[in-house]
Amino acid sequence: MIVLAMAAAHSSNRMLKDAIFEANQACMDAMAVHGADAVTNATIGVVLDEEGKLAVLPTMEKVYRSLAMSELAAYAPIVGLPDYLNSVIDLTFADNKPEAHFSAIATAGGTGAIHHAIANYAERGEAVLTSDWFWGNYNVICVETGKRLETFTLFDEGQNFNIADFKNKVDELLKKQDSLLIILNTPAHNPTGFALSESDWDAVLDIVKPYTTSKGKRISILVDIAYIDFAGEKNETRKFMRKFSNLPENLFVMISFSMSKSYTLYGQRTGALVAVSSSKAVVDEFNQVGKYSNRAIWSNVNRGAQALLVKLQQDKTTYAAFEHERQELYNLVQSRANIFVNEAKQCGLNFLPYKGGFFIAVPAKDPAAICNKLHDELVFAVPLKLGIRVAACSVSLDKMKGIAAKMKAAFDKCNKA
Ligand SMILES: Cc1ncc(COP(=O)(O)O)c(C=O)c1O
Repeated sequence: MIVLAMAAAHSSNRMLKDAIFEANQACMDAMAVHGADAVTNATIGVVLDEEGKLAVLPTMEKVYRSLAMSELAAYAPIVGLPDYLNSVIDLTFADNKPEAHFSAIATAGGTGAIHHAIANYAERGEAVLTSDWFWGNYNVICVETGKRLETFTLFDEGQNFNIADFKNKVDELLKKQDSLLIILNTPAHNPTGFALSESDWDAVLDIVKPYTTSKGKRISILVDIAYIDFAGEKNETRKFMRKFSNLPENLFVMISFSMSKSYTLYGQRTGALVAVSSSKAVVDEFNQVGKYSNRAIWSNVNRGAQALLVKLQQDKTTYAAFEHERQELYNLVQSRANIFVNEAKQCGLNFLPYKGGFFIAVPAKDPAAICNKLHDELVFAVPLKLGIRVAACSVSLDKMKGIAAKMKAAFDKCNKA
């Protein structure tokens, strides 16, 4: 039989390799043999409570269940409900609105926001720049939209933000192309938990700004803040956004907002892309191209989740109760991460600078070999290209104890072998 390839030439070689799914499957298999209590699943990327159930913030759930059926069933406007877009802008910046023009477009999760930024702010065939530790979906979206992902080395030898390599890569790419989209996932970067400091941000802006005086150059920065509400105090973690005041017109900032982690509403697929520019014309164009992309891809976005955010945010008492619950969930994730971090320091396990968020990363030459060794201890983590991802969001406090030492032992065994 002749096997026909029916997919169009540009699509037919595409195959999603999902390291997280594979690691989770290995864990499920081990649970079937040894029982769930004996197994540690550090592969899951959502917050689980101490009993291993999905953590859903009660005030969010109460407001969601109070929505009228018509609010859940009706279409939303293509760009999103106007009140939703206003709420998104307020929540994105809190007290740190830069002096600029703003706009927002509803999207299907943060993923949809990242998609729109890549689709509309990078030229076909050209490079998009992000760090070498990155969320794999950036690459998938680049391939899907005919762009190419290139990386700079995130950390220098002292495990600080590698400003020199960031500059090298920006310089190199802007020699070859007139426009550049840079994606920075901060704070609470996936998978390391790293965040750019105020001075790192100054350095980033100092590196790109000189290009804005060159004729024809256009630079866009997408800040992926998917985990920001698990990174620390609301205004502290957003302080860097003030630096986006009065930027040159050809330096455009976008921020991807997501309801997945911040509102424990992962599956409702609702987020937004927020635009920040000193130019009203740039923001008007953003509205136009975003509306077009929305219409083409999903027509419009989940209305119920948008209505939920509006109802939640517009009632001060309700929102305060919600924020209190989220703070407790953040504290829980942080306590789990602290166990790993402290134990890793004690046993001499090298890990990347964790400042907050769902994950901690341990660099490794052969991440799969270490993860396989860890399976002997019934601990399951995700082997990535540059290291191992440990989920602080989903491992209970009790099960987190001892993982670092087991990982160190796995490294030692693999090094000896
Ligand atoms: C770094 C990063 N950005 C964005 C997202 C987008 O999430 P969602 O599309 O669920 O909002 C994720 C989800 O895992 C992520 O890890």
